[in-house]
Amino acid sequence: MKVLVTGGLGYIGSHTTVKLLEEGFDVVIIDNLSNSKIDVLDRIEQIAKKRPRFYNFDVQNKESLESVFVSEKPEAIIHFAGFKAVGESCQKPLMYYENNLLSTFALLDMMQKYPKCKNFVFSSSATVYGEPDSVPLTENSPIKQATSPYGQTKIMIEEILTDFSKVQKVNIAILRYFNPIGAHQSGLLGEDPNGLPNNLFPYINKVAVGALPKLNIFGNDYKTCDGTGVRDYIHVLDLAKGHVLALKKLEKDCGLFVCNLGTGKGTSVLELVKAYEKANNIKIPYEFAPRRAGDIDENFAGTEKAKKELGFVCDYTILDACRDGYNFQTQELKRMKDKK
Ligand code: NAD
Ligand code: UFG
Repeated sequence: MKVLVTGGLGYIGSHTTVKLLEEGFDVVIIDNLSNSKIDVLDRIEQIAKKRPRFYNFDVQNKESLESVFVSEKPEAIIHFAGFKAVGESCQKPLMYYENNLLSTFALLDMMQKYPKCKNFVFSSSATVYGEPDSVPLTENSPIKQATSPYGQTKIMIEEILTDFSKVQKVNIAILRYFNPIGAHQSGLLGEDPNGLPNNLFPYINKVAVGALPKLNIFGNDYKTCDGTGVRDYIHVLDLAKGHVLALKKLEKDCGLFVCNLGTGKGTSVLELVKAYEKANNIKIPYEFAPRRAGDIDENFAGTEKAKKELGFVCDYTILDACRDGYNFQTQELKRMKDKK
């Protein structure tokens, strides 16, 4: 199957592309490098021993998009491209609505025009569940008022896809990711944001290699096992596998399919720090800081549906993710030094 991967040079997209190539899929990437580096393309090739075809443009650009549909004739799309920083989305809401919604519209428009492309996988997020009434969160848990424009784009796109699936003969998988962490074991792919990381795991990575002095733990008075926030951290390679399984499900003409991708286990910030220290035999200095606005006590995924309908179970543990994340960050630092 030929798969168009938008945002394929980004964190989750690059790992998924490797997995797709390893599984024999033909992959075409569109990425405008707004949050990724072109080196990732060579690294994907280095790992998978195959080079995906690559187009550098904004998915919103309908002319360029159509030319790719005409020349490549994709049968499926995995749509990762979008902006994802919660805090930035509150500062620049229009930029988020524009990029996340219009890129999706452009792709759906192409699916209407080229009906041979009838499978679509969308990167949604556990953020759509907001502050949970109870955990684990199942796909039937209520969708809550979004606490950021970023979260709102995910809710809106889920609704748009649901309406689209009612009128167009398409198969759509809405995958609600919990918290992806870790990196490829080769140390070639991972998440290395510019500037101060917004998310916990990349922040710990930077503290681990000495690029930042200490971790600030936002809040120690949550209603959780140790007072720090609890999330469901899933290895990015497990997440990548989930996409391949979702494509296989769509191939069976399943229509609209909504599914969580998580481990089913909650881990607190302190537990993650301890796991990172254990996996890598290092110390992570930290300090408690005030709560971050919009954060919730706890969430983790109900995994029954993923298991039953996709055959999805996680292969990796938190310790694996901590080891792979540190390996990537150490290698990345070395690569940057060698470049200078
Ligand atoms: P990322 O920023 O690493 O990857 C996104 C990629 O898309 C980048 O390479 C960027 O250059 C590209 N891109 C953005 N807008 C584009 C456009 N208009 N045209 C072409 N390319 C464009 O992010 P990620 O962590 O890999 O996330 C992928 C998707 O998963 C996003 O939609 C994100 O909202 C969603 N998601 C991520 C998380 C997470 O914690 N990482 C959690 C839930 C959902
Ligand atoms: N945290 C810290 N210090 C930091 C960063 C985070 O203590 O420097 C804490 C947070 O308070 C929270 C936990 O670590 O308790 C996880 O925070 P992240 O920012 O890593 O992740 P979130 O759960 O807030 O959100 C992430 C993505 C969203 C996505 C969501 C899915 O940022 O885009 O996971 O569950 F929607």
